[in-house]
Amino acid sequence: MPEPAVYLETFGCQMNELDSELVTSQLRALGYRFTPEAEQASIVLYNTCSVREHAEQKVWSRLGEMALRKARQPELVVGVLGCMAEREGDALLKRMPVVDVLVGPGELDKLPGLLDNALRTRLSLLSDETVQRLAATPETHKPDVNLLRSAGQVALAGNTSRRSATLAAAQDTLEMLDLARAVEPDHHSGSAYVRITRGCNKFCTYCVVPFTRGAEVHRPPQHIVDECKRLADAGVVEITLLGQTVNHYRFEHGAAVTVGGVVQPQKGRVYKHTRGEYADPYAGENVTTFADLLAMIHEQVPAIRRLRFVTSFPRSFGDDVLTVIRQSPRICRYLHVPAQSGSDRMLGLMNRGYTVSEYLEFIDRARSFLHQPEIGRPLTLAGDIIVGFPTETEEDFAATADLLRKARYKNCFIFKYSPRPGTIAIDRFTDDVPDEVKRRRNNQLLALQNEISASVSAEFVGQTLDVFVQGVSKRAAKRKVAQATAARPAGAVALTLGGKSLDGSEPASACSVHGSHVHDEQPVAAATADAGPIQLSARTDGDIIVFFDCPPGRSPDDLVGEIIPVKIDRHEPLALHGRPVL
Ligand code: 5AD
Ligand code: SF4
Repeated sequence: MPEPAVYLETFGCQMNELDSELVTSQLRALGYRFTPEAEQASIVLYNTCSVREHAEQKVWSRLGEMALRKARQPELVVGVLGCMAEREGDALLKRMPVVDVLVGPGELDKLPGLLDNALRTRLSLLSDETVQRLAATPETHKPDVNLLRSAGQVALAGNTSRRSATLAAAQDTLEMLDLARAVEPDHHSGSAYVRITRGCNKFCTYCVVPFTRGAEVHRPPQHIVDECKRLADAGVVEITLLGQTVNHYRFEHGAAVTVGGVVQPQKGRVYKHTRGEYADPYAGENVTTFADLLAMIHEQVPAIRRLRFVTSFPRSFGDDVLTVIRQSPRICRYLHVPAQSGSDRMLGLMNRGYTVSEYLEFIDRARSFLHQPEIGRPLTLAGDIIVGFPTETEEDFAATADLLRKARYKNCFIFKYSPRPGTIAIDRFTDDVPDEVKRRRNNQLLALQNEISASVSAEFVGQTLDVFVQGVSKRAAKRKVAQATAARPAGAVALTLGGKSLDGSEPASACSVHGSHVHDEQPVAAATADAGPIQLSARTDGDIIVFFDCPPGRSPDDLVGEIIPVKIDRHEPLALHGRPVL
């Protein structure tokens, strides 16, 4: 009997995308099949995000749809994974009885067991006769008859890392999920995420992450380097290191704990930054700092031709890190370093721990180290801004617009403040900026950022840039889907999309800055005379999207995952267009 098909939908950030990939490879290894069609799945999983209310609303509405579907398909298993599972806990099960499995981001390694339980529970809905027959199956496949009969939901939330006094006391089983990552050549597009840190210790007042993902925990450097090596061996050429505040990465070998032969991740130490201090105070023989980690990966895994990291925290970003980036040809000249506001008063209320002038000092310092357009290595910056934080005045807002002009981000994600239950801000402040004011400020900043992005991308016109080819553009993929659907018999699997914008219009509400790719369940056909050339989508070292037509005689399959030179001849605010120089 084939294992049930799983549909997994991911909301939110890159960390969630990686979690979904790890969950997928874990379930695949156990024999589960995945389908891109929710309708064809008997297990539907949502990996959720709680950062803004809007992301949660989407999940509630999906769950509503699933409740209707379950009425006609009672054996359907529905799971909620990620931050919403952690934040809502039992309340989610009560509000949405359709949910069978609930797993917080700190417990994802337990998903297979919970799913198995839920599947067996589903059998309780079957007839007595079927249960008898199943119970008589060979010992190795025999379901637990008690479980067959037990009904109910299974939940596992509760981020252990925040709650346990010392993480060292227990094995960090979540680390096993990262370690067990199945790296198969056909399951990637030349690009991958690697986690270096989980959780966050910053407690920005608006943010739910420290509560859902728990305390900051750093993975052992050797695990990270080994994972990069395995990915490189499987053909990955671009890696994005992930953490909420990557530059705070720090692993003290003297304090490392080993359980069952596995070095355990380590809780972050509280790092008090002193003004004017640009070196990591913990640097030394026994400590791997973020600068050390970057240098290690760059040196030990040269097959990784592009190494990026997100997200940087604007405070305590040392010259040591900037120096390593400057000296390393394969580390991208790209920083995603959210400011959140250009008003000192707002930054104070947000508990960001820096002033606007300190922020600007940091990006000036980064530019003076890393912006070298004369050798073809410009630095690009990306940012995040929240508008309409409680008590934000027009003056505060004008200061933020000013910051945008000074920072000259290549793109900036602009969010309307969304009060999140459980955060400090929701208790401390009234959400007093009316929604129409938030919307207006949001639109004004988007328009301003559009102009800035256009002027940043205009500087690339005429240059030849090395670009990493990610896949067919969304436009071309849509056309292929239409063609494939017309040509293929009903029921055949069509080309599936990664689900995110490839046309340069990065959604203002997304926190992802990493390029998505088109997942090809089937190889993309070469350009055909009637359909015209296929448009491909690529990224520069500075993470700018570049579109170009697949050259005649070349198949997109040959180019995806490659780094090739493209001469830029046209620009848009968020994308460049050019011709490959092959
Ligand atoms: N409301 C609006 N935006 C938020 N972010 C985090 N929490 C909130 C919130 N409560 C934004 C920040 C962060 C990005 C991932 O999401 O800008 O950098
Ligand atoms: Fe949230 Fe602040 Fe941590 Fe980023 S640094 S995850 S905004 S608490």
